[in-house]
Amino acid sequence: MTTLNLAAEITYRRMTDSDLPAAHRLSQAVRWPHRLEDWQLVHRLGSGFVAERDGEIIGTAMCWSQGSYYASLGLIIVSPEAQGKGIGRTLMQQALDEIGDRNCLLYATPAGQPLYEKLGFKAVGEVHQHQGTVVQPEVVAPPTGERIRPLGNNDRARLIELAAESTGMSRATIMNELLQVAECVVIDSYGELVGFALIRRFGHGYTIGPVVAPDPERAKAMISYWVGARVDSFVRIDVQDSGGLSPWLNELGLVKVDTVVAMVRGEPAHVGPGMKQFAIINQALG
Ligand SMILES: CC(C)(COP(=O)(O)OP(=O)(O)OC[C@H]1O[C@@H](n2cnc3c(N)ncnc32)[C@H](O)[C@@H]1OP(=O)(O)O)[C@@H](O)C(=O)NCCC(=O)NCCS
Repeated sequence: MTTLNLAAEITYRRMTDSDLPAAHRLSQAVRWPHRLEDWQLVHRLGSGFVAERDGEIIGTAMCWSQGSYYASLGLIIVSPEAQGKGIGRTLMQQALDEIGDRNCLLYATPAGQPLYEKLGFKAVGEVHQHQGTVVQPEVVAPPTGERIRPLGNNDRARLIELAAESTGMSRATIMNELLQVAECVVIDSYGELVGFALIRRFGHGYTIGPVVAPDPERAKAMISYWVGARVDSFVRIDVQDSGGLSPWLNELGLVKVDTVVAMVRGEPAHVGPGMKQFAIINQALG
């Protein structure tokens, strides 16, 4: 009877800006590191839904359009004492209705994976979360004749092209918003931009991502640049297993602390052979 009463009292509605402090407290309750500003950033870029009981937010789910054909889902959280009662599934369904027939990407924790499988998501890869405080980073130089430099005003259009090429999704809106809050370096190869890496405040310190490059060596060069620029700071980076950077990051002092499963509902985005996104933006936006 308790369960039935509980279910009857729950309302579901769109997330507004004024819900973000409560959503932030919910993510703290499941020990996620997000700051209020991290919630605000992703909320500016997408839409969210909340489950509310007696005026208290007990569940969240968010989704983001990534062009006309793709979307991502994330920040799916149900308050620990309200889990296992169908709230997560209802919130997921609302987010899926919002994105319509777009192909959908998400990164699943072990707690979320069974629910997503029931909703038609299939595992397509893994992402490793690395983090730590590096005192003396190894410096990896870019190839001869190339240099790492700050993003210039004229580079933005090319950067957005590379972001799309490396993910198979239109990333202009997301990249423009991220560049408001992040610092960015690029690899310049004889005047041509061949890769980029962002760093921004997140959680307990900084996060590096996205990192886009044609090969692991250039990705390492940009990552080691940012780690060197943040000596003694807590740094996190979430890398795709397929990029092969995990062993190197462990040696660098950014230790693997978790792995999540990349899952897709519908068709995975087509990524060409030229550019790869080695580090994702975060586990919400991919
Ligand atoms: C993942 C999470 C959101 C699920 O929310 P929830 O409200 O507990 O999930 P529901 O009660 O709606 O369960 C949904 C379905 O998944 C199934 N399920 C949930 N957890 C399961 C588990 N550990 N093993 C097997 N099945 C499970 C349920 O049986 C249910 O199936 P049904 O609808 O066919 O009966 C919740 O556990 C949570 O907040 N976890 C911590 C944060 C987190 O890891 N979020 C996921 C980020 S990707």
